[in-house]
Amino acid sequence: MPLNRDDLLELDRQDPLADHRDAFDIPEGVIYFDGNSLGALPKAAKGRVREVVEQQWGQGLIRSWNEADWINLPQRLGAKIAPLIGAQPHEVISADSTSVNLFKLAAAALRIQQQTSRERRVILSEPGNFPTDLYMLQGLCDFAAGEPELVTEPADSLIDRIDESTALVVLTHVHYKSGRLHDMTAITRRAHECGALVLWDLSHSTGAVPVELNDVGADFAIGCGYKYLNGGPGAPAFMFVAERHLSTLQQPLSGWFGHESPFDMRDDYAPAPDIRRVLTGTTSVVAASLFEVGLDRFRDVDMFALRKKSMSLTEHFIQLVEERCPNAGFELVSPREPQQRGSQVSFAHPEGYAIVQALIDRGVIGDYRSPDILRFGFAPLYVQYVDLWGAVEHLADIMCNRLWENPQYRHRRQVT
Ligand SMILES: Cc1ncc(COP(=O)(O)O)c(C=O)c1O
Repeated sequence: MPLNRDDLLELDRQDPLADHRDAFDIPEGVIYFDGNSLGALPKAAKGRVREVVEQQWGQGLIRSWNEADWINLPQRLGAKIAPLIGAQPHEVISADSTSVNLFKLAAAALRIQQQTSRERRVILSEPGNFPTDLYMLQGLCDFAAGEPELVTEPADSLIDRIDESTALVVLTHVHYKSGRLHDMTAITRRAHECGALVLWDLSHSTGAVPVELNDVGADFAIGCGYKYLNGGPGAPAFMFVAERHLSTLQQPLSGWFGHESPFDMRDDYAPAPDIRRVLTGTTSVVAASLFEVGLDRFRDVDMFALRKKSMSLTEHFIQLVEERCPNAGFELVSPREPQQRGSQVSFAHPEGYAIVQALIDRGVIGDYRSPDILRFGFAPLYVQYVDLWGAVEHLADIMCNRLWENPQYRHRRQVT
């Protein structure tokens, strides 16, 4: 039976997460399918930013490092991220960007390996991993001691490529373009059997797909704050270090915030005895405070209910696009099996860029990833089932009437 709008309204009525939508400011007339790129604004963020700027900064001035506890923001946020990724609170901390954190933890992992074997030189990733991950690893290989080498292997054969030469496996759990999920358990197990370490980029998982880092025995993880965690544009990122590595881990960006006693102002670096040793410099307090608002939304969220809704949203979206736009030339790039994809659906189409622009012009916001991918992200806290109907109505109209041919939709903007 083809889906109709009433079916979707009924799913919204039954949705146990439905009440969360009202906690977000989504502009009237907008259907927002880009929470995998930039999460929506939690209404409470407005009051929080006013409090931090006007009270804590404006009135409290420097005193707020102690009185408003700015100094412990990184650990406090980390403890709130921990339950979303199956970690203990003292294994997670928020700071810097995902790119910088990847560099720090990958370098730390290489250092661990170099202490036992000079032969393990391979950092293994996949071609087409998120560009910054590959770029940071290329940069690290150029600078690090011991001549590490970045090797990429396609996802399907990656697990078999892990061997005794592998120092570190670095993968994005949910692929940013296709939405395909890696088998975290199997890859981590295989890496450990071969003596390799594993660093997971959870940018497209955290807040959308339940992750159990300690159950799978992961060594390290990093991830973004501004996507499904709704931390705001440029929100700080996070790092996870498994407890067993915490007391010995050495990272290269050894700034004063990672020192055991920063305000002793000593000349010599001595790392903090805990997760703070992965910190570098001063916290971006306004951004971190906003991030906390996003995280507080997840306090009582059952991640398995969230995953269930996410799979159902993506499933219904694929069905609707295929029913309503059957000969439009869309090729499903995401896995068809819901268990194998994250909270996004990607289609390839040669006119992908123009189609996405035409949708955005009508208030249906997804994004485009070169060379031909239309990407739609479904943040289960605020996307409604009925939004799927509205979005696909517009898409069908754009395709049937070739509205994407309008030259204004071909103008490439800096951010796609
Ligand atoms: C998988 C992945 N890693 C990292 C990043 C971005 O890192 P940064 O916040 O350092 O720009 C993104 C951004 O979209 C991403 O998708």
